[in-house]
Amino acid sequence: MILVTGGLGYIGSHTIIELIKNNYEVLVVDNLSNSKREVIDKLKKITGKEIPLYISDLCDKKALRQIFQDNKIDSVIHFAGFKAVGESVEKPLMYYRNNIDSTLTLLEVMEEFNCFNMIFSSSATVYGSPKSLPIKEDFPLSTTNPYGSTKLFIEQILKDLYVSNNKFNITILRYFNPIGADESGLLGEDPRGIPNNLMPYIVKVATGELETLSIFGDDYDTCDGTGVRDYIHVTDLARGHVLSLKNQHGLRIYNLGTGHGTSVLELVNTFEKVNNVKINKKIAPRRAGDIAECFASCDKAFKELGFKAEKTIEDMCRDSYNYVKNNK
Ligand code: WQD
Repeated sequence: MILVTGGLGYIGSHTIIELIKNNYEVLVVDNLSNSKREVIDKLKKITGKEIPLYISDLCDKKALRQIFQDNKIDSVIHFAGFKAVGESVEKPLMYYRNNIDSTLTLLEVMEEFNCFNMIFSSSATVYGSPKSLPIKEDFPLSTTNPYGSTKLFIEQILKDLYVSNNKFNITILRYFNPIGADESGLLGEDPRGIPNNLMPYIVKVATGELETLSIFGDDYDTCDGTGVRDYIHVTDLARGHVLSLKNQHGLRIYNLGTGHGTSVLELVNTFEKVNNVKINKKIAPRRAGDIAECFASCDKAFKELGFKAEKTIEDMCRDSYNYVKNNK
């Protein structure tokens, strides 16, 4: 059985779809701090499966031990954690306490119940401002905000744990920029309030919920002056987790991206074209902490996992909008 922590979240829920498609038995633990309980019903509609759901906080060790007591858990895919960069700058203690404490508790309970297989949701943010592109897994690591630091610290904890007990199989997946939504239109990114990230903001402008998209800077040294990122469809990202599960040996680290960079203006123009909508936009000052350009080298994931992203920017734009139109 695969325990998916934060399984009602954006990436967790999409990964569950792929796990079930690959005949894995899944169990979800989620504390609903950044997700909705109704996602479990949508997952049943999409997969046809009843998925056991425990509404519980990973920091509650007693509850977590009971879950491991009651279920034969072979592997854990650990998504649960706070992930808003801006909020982490305002509330660093909350981020360190939540993201690290929950992971330490989870690892202690896993070890106690002889569950040694862990896939960890990390982020390209651990590379900081890369010295060159594309970014490779052996590049130097540095972070510029507490959220990114929790990911970096947890990676270090996992590396130290592996050295202390190499019964563990640990796979660290560094996501680039996940966007898009399941083809069913039933699941998607659903941030509360004003989105921090680009695609959910574009979508809210497209639906009229927000007035205008601010483009944070058009004077970067990039193809058109706006920020360039490696956007990867969330379904491709989910497939990367299933391939990781099938190839767990020792401590492994992989980038999950497409290997291509797309600028803010390119993404907006593609979104307008495929969805036949107009996005009101204006140039605004750069956002503190942003880097100009970032995209992945995907050679290692391809060579060792056979992972290659398949969906296009057009697919990502179409699916993102399709979800919101279906769930107004
Ligand atoms: C993308 C581009 C912005 C919003 C963040 C986290 C990272 C990961 C993914 C969790 C940049 C520009 C954005 C807007 C804009 N999250 N932008 N107007 O910053 O690459 O990565 O999300 O793991 O850890 O750092 O993603 O979507 O915020 O920004 O112009 O309203 O869009 O400047 O160039 P980012 P993003």
